[in-house]
Amino acid sequence: MNKERWDGRYREESYAYGEKPNQFFSTWLPKFEPKSILMPADGEGRNGVYAATLGWQVTAFDLSSEGKAKALQLANRKQVSLNYTVGDFTEIEFEENSFDAIGLIYAHFPADKKEVFHQRLHTYLKPGGLVIFEAFSKNHLPYKKANPSVGGPGNIDVAFSIAEIEAYFPNYEVLLLEEVVVDLNEGLYHVGQGSVVRFVGKKSS
Ligand SMILES: C[S@@+](CC[C@H](N)C(=O)[O-])C[C@H]1O[C@@H](n2cnc3c(N)ncnc32)[C@H](O)[C@@H]1O
Repeated sequence: MNKERWDGRYREESYAYGEKPNQFFSTWLPKFEPKSILMPADGEGRNGVYAATLGWQVTAFDLSSEGKAKALQLANRKQVSLNYTVGDFTEIEFEENSFDAIGLIYAHFPADKKEVFHQRLHTYLKPGGLVIFEAFSKNHLPYKKANPSVGGPGNIDVAFSIAEIEAYFPNYEVLLLEEVVVDLNEGLYHVGQGSVVRFVGKKSS
């Protein structure tokens, strides 16, 4: 989807993927000492705001200005703050070795940019830094066909495989890397069974 479609979705009154954090993210993040975290494609901020409530110093970005507005409303309600930039990842840059963690939750980027975006993300992470990742797998399409309410990309090249994660985050200490079928219940647009790739890893020091 492009910026206009994301803005349209986030203009709706309710939170597209709910106000609560993604379950996998909220299972793993509290295991680590809060430091700095980058939240790419944070949408309406359910995950970035959650990280801020745990004491993480959150930098977020997304294509959608409507997403940012909803994220800041949520942050206000939870009495936390986050540094949220609106823009395409093509135009957004950070210093190398800037972040102690990166949270990638359903950060589905265009197929032709996916590899280069993840290569850049790897450089932004400090040695020893943490990645927490969950997104639809390349085996998700039959689940979306059977139940469109589960959402996810229609283009298989936008979805992920375990081999891609291994290539994007090389020589990481792998705490978890799996492809599993999960029952999603996140807002209006992630409801039902889907196939996801999950990764928790630490960049080598
Ligand atoms: C499925 S939503 C997930 C939002 C959020 N991570 C969550 O889990 O609630 C995907 C997000 O990716 C963002 N996005 C897609 N392509 C992008 C790009 N090139 N640069 C920045 N954000 C992008 C969209 O605007 C959208 O908010």
